[in-house]
Amino acid sequence: MNNYIINNITQLVTCSGFSAKHGRSMSDLGIIENGMVVISDGLITYVGHAADSFPVDNPDAYEIIDATGKAVLPGFIDSHTHLVFGGYREEEFSWRMKGDSYMSIMNRGGGIYNTVRATREASFDTLKSAAKVRLDKMSAMGVTTVEAKSGYGLDKATELKQLRVLKALNAEHPVDIVTTYLGAHAIPTEYQGDEKAYIDFMLRDVMPVIREEDLAECCDIFCEKGVFSTEESHRFLLAAKEMGFQLKIHADEIVHTGGATVAAAVGALSADHLLQASENGIRALANSETVATLLPCTAFSLREDYAKGRQMIDAGCAVALATDYNPGSCFTASIPLTIALACIYMKLSPEEALTALTINAAAAVGRAGSIGSIDVGKKGDIIMLEYLTYKFLPYHVGMNCVERTIKS
Ligand code: NIG
Ligand code: FE
Repeated sequence: MNNYIINNITQLVTCSGFSAKHGRSMSDLGIIENGMVVISDGLITYVGHAADSFPVDNPDAYEIIDATGKAVLPGFIDSHTHLVFGGYREEEFSWRMKGDSYMSIMNRGGGIYNTVRATREASFDTLKSAAKVRLDKMSAMGVTTVEAKSGYGLDKATELKQLRVLKALNAEHPVDIVTTYLGAHAIPTEYQGDEKAYIDFMLRDVMPVIREEDLAECCDIFCEKGVFSTEESHRFLLAAKEMGFQLKIHADEIVHTGGATVAAAVGALSADHLLQASENGIRALANSETVATLLPCTAFSLREDYAKGRQMIDAGCAVALATDYNPGSCFTASIPLTIALACIYMKLSPEEALTALTINAAAAVGRAGSIGSIDVGKKGDIIMLEYLTYKFLPYHVGMNCVERTIKS
């Protein structure tokens, strides 16, 4: 039964909207005190005030939920994850804690290359069952849609295997998955020193198959010193756009290269990381439709300075937050930790953090028209908190406040 009436909601936080919110408007949460939401056949059909009579023809066909003393919010959207991978990298974490750097481990053949070896070896079923457990944990923290990238195969067969795992999971699991091809995550050892040849290989041999089999909506690239240059990233993303992909970019994560400006120039859905984004880069994003996706748990795990979230919002950017869940730089899917770090260290208000995980995250995956807020016509993706206000989300530091997740 995908019919629910959630009544007597002490605080109904709608995050109402159908596109990304920039700057000051990120503080508008569209709150209704003492509210009601109706979900019919998985879609939201009523949003308004609580009442004794219900705005439906056949109330018997509905589960009635009494949300007295509770806050009700749109489901969270984790718009940047690397969900499917083989193996783990716990040794590398210990090395980093002793002062080793993320890029030097990668340049020695570890890091992403370590996970590439393990993912090439892992079977479809092994990858799928591990990812399913991860999705269950995300769902318990209120996540109803997740973006997930390939990028741990680099060769054609393994990249397709990762994307097929995601497609199968999307069909079976209640959490919706937006898939992204990230073949441009690193230059494979087979192509070392020739990033151009590897990019040509992806565009010619891999991406047409992905389009044909409808295996990914978005395409992403790791634009970073020593990985893909801004010029190659620009060329690659424009070619991907021609093929019908929506665009994302890992930009200005470790070293400032100008990835944020590339993102705005090519019309990417999002520019992600941005720890080292320049004022020019921030201005370019503020004047574009590209969402600035910040991943505070990655800065925390890498012991780096946080992205300038406060400055970006003040400059008029549309900011989203995501976990970056992956086995290397940031092995956490914690929404509570993401919210805490965003508020405490990046100086977002609780309202901005909430917008960043809902409607702005929906825009970052190209779905602001169908998810990310409690508006009539959108999917019934809704969470109920254990507490009476959303303000507990950052205040109850690092703790899961979600009591119930309703998917469609
Ligand atoms: O978003 N920087 C590139 N990609 C990931 C890390 C992937 C990994 O270390 O396995 C990131 O941080
Ligand atoms: Fe990432």
